Amino acid sequence: MKLRLDKYLTEMGQGTRSEVKKAVGKGLVQVNGVIIKKPEFKLETETDEVLYQGNPVFYAKYEYYMLNKPAGVISASEDSRETTVVDLITRKQRQDLFPVGRLDKDTEGLLLITNDGALAHRLLSPKKHVDKTYYARIDGKVTQEDAEAFAEGIDIGDEKLTMPAMLVILQSRCQSEVELTIREGRFHQIKRMFHARGKEVVYLKRLRMGSLVLDEKLKTGEYRELTKKEIEELC
Ligand code: URA
Repeated sequence: MKLRLDKYLTEMGQGTRSEVKKAVGKGLVQVNGVIIKKPEFKLETETDEVLYQGNPVFYAKYEYYMLNKPAGVISASEDSRETTVVDLITRKQRQDLFPVGRLDKDTEGLLLITNDGALAHRLLSPKKHVDKTYYARIDGKVTQEDAEAFAEGIDIGDEKLTMPAMLVILQSRCQSEVELTIREGRFHQIKRMFHARGKEVVYLKRLRMGSLVLDEKLKTGEYRELTKKEIEELC
């Protein structure tokens, strides 16, 4: 793909458009061993070799990261006051990353972060019904009746009932542990589903989204790139 030199450097996180234009003008950038002083110079992203201040800058069209989201950060690309999930991806090249869907600020677990809009659309489209599985701790005794109600769909105050969801009860006590698989991504959906049953979610963590499973080796707040296989399976 052909791309302007200043756009290439900006997309790869080397500074703002005006910063990289200045750097190019000062002769700090080489393409295939030749100093290029024109920001509008068109280069071939796949094959041309770019050095910025002597350091190679490789081009990545898409980046895909799996984050084990910690509580306390918001699911957004940028925010003037709060830490976002994209801020946690410190080794990124691209500056146009965004989270695929939202987890609440206090929810932990699997979050895909990418700049691949088409993939995000496929995963989030309500028509595609991508399964999302969560582990939850619930204040209250979760029962088989709750599982049956979730399987049928329940009223959480929206126009429509929730779609059938699968509840697996891991422990049923005063505080219960469950795994719940839902096919939608409504606002605060799981908290509202339990609330509608007179119970409250006290801890929530996403374990799975479609074919993508949270890597157990990732500690809370850690991330890694998706493997080729994971990307192919998602696509
Ligand atoms: N359901 C919720 O209530 N919160 C989340 O973060 C995700 C699903």
